[in-house]
Amino acid sequence: MGNQGRPDNDKKIGVLIGGSGLIGGGILHYFKTRSEGEFDLLAPNSKRLSLRDPEDIRLYLKRHTPDFIINTAITAIDSNPLLTFETNYLGTLNLAKAAVDLGIPYIHFSSAAVLPTGENLSEDDQLRLTPELANYPKSKLLAEMALQEMHRTLGLDYTNIRLAVVYGAHDHKIQGFQRMLFALADQTMPFLFTDQQAMHSYSNAKKVPFFVHHILSHREEFSGQTFHFVDPHPVLLSQLILTIKSYLELKRPMEVFLPYPLAKFGAGCMVALTRMLRGIGIESKMPPELMFLKNFYQTQSLSAAKLKGSSFVDPNPQATIFTELPMLIQYYLTRWEDLNLIIPDDTIFFDPSKRAEIFQNDPKQILASLGADVSQPFLDTCMWPRGGAVDSETGDKESQMQLQQEGREVRQ
Ligand SMILES: NC(=O)c1ccc[n+]([C@@H]2O[C@H](COP(=O)([O-])OP(=O)(O)OC[C@H]3O[C@@H](n4cnc5c(N)ncnc54)[C@H](OP(=O)(O)O)[C@@H]3O)[C@@H](O)[C@H]2O)c1
Repeated sequence: MGNQGRPDNDKKIGVLIGGSGLIGGGILHYFKTRSEGEFDLLAPNSKRLSLRDPEDIRLYLKRHTPDFIINTAITAIDSNPLLTFETNYLGTLNLAKAAVDLGIPYIHFSSAAVLPTGENLSEDDQLRLTPELANYPKSKLLAEMALQEMHRTLGLDYTNIRLAVVYGAHDHKIQGFQRMLFALADQTMPFLFTDQQAMHSYSNAKKVPFFVHHILSHREEFSGQTFHFVDPHPVLLSQLILTIKSYLELKRPMEVFLPYPLAKFGAGCMVALTRMLRGIGIESKMPPELMFLKNFYQTQSLSAAKLKGSSFVDPNPQATIFTELPMLIQYYLTRWEDLNLIIPDDTIFFDPSKRAEIFQNDPKQILASLGADVSQPFLDTCMWPRGGAVDSETGDKESQMQLQQEGREVRQ
């Protein structure tokens, strides 16, 4: 099935849904820049192919007859029940049905939201499906369950990748980890909204495309399986907050752990206030993450043992949320400052090379350096090793070990 009958049938065609999002964007960038010769990844946006419209899915997939489908799309986590159901569940179901019809792999993204709290949770753990679940976890859980069933009854070749708290740059929304960073940078977190023990697992967005590439090339091992794609060690939320605080040299939050009942009461007051403001025509919205407030006080760590025991090799085992923090802080704070969402105390931090200052005050200097800027070839200046490093990009254990033995750098 798949690309039979197409002229260049050595190159696999994939369809990625959600390519403008945090995870999808990283996958798209990776496949466009690092595995060009092997794959052609199509990424229709939601205007071209909406998961809410089965006809969109049908028409697009029939026209392109891909060799695999990757679904990273979700609706906003605070969407209403219908939008959540149609996008996160029915959309998933229709893509999986199309994958069965075409006889191709379907790569699905799920979330730690389908798991209970607790330590070292395994891939077999799942919440109980009850009406009381919030829309987002309910839709993700339903989707996981439907995929398991379709694998069992229809032979669906799928892999379910469960992510925990994702950290990574190039995101356009302030959500999840970014929400916390924003609250700290904006100085709206007076106390620690957690306790001394609460730990969580984190997923590195940069590493996700390596895993996707690897599982596409190793279907036998990964088919019909769920994997926790998380860093091996969970992180204390309080330690993360205090590390960010110290990087930003902030006075707040104070090192006082706000007990959960008080935090809940505060959140309740804010909900009442936003309702009141809306009642008098002032647009206001609570951060959707407040629905997860309780999780800030509870440990949820996902076991990475299954991932570690697989043939996939972490392309950068040293990278953790802590090693990536300086880059993430620099990226997001610069962005939020550019958008006038926050006002920085320290402009040097935001623009160390003083490019904005020169642009504002001495534009002639920009033209004066033009000669030097354009004297270097542009197209042939490549940040990434090509050719020799291709093996490392598949995340294949054998070829990676070989590279490491040869003393060559295995880079992200
Ligand atoms: N980010 C996290 O912290 C996190 C944590 C755990 C699990 N996950 C999982 O990881 C996956 C990716 O999450 P993300 O954070 O990358 O999401 P995201 O940044 O919010 O991106 C969502 C994507 O879905 C697309 N989309 C929304 N409605 C659509 C529709 N009706 N039809 C087609 N596309 C639609 C959006 O496209 P448009 O922009 O065109 O609307 C966007 O590209 C999801 O399965 C999520 O559950 C994420």
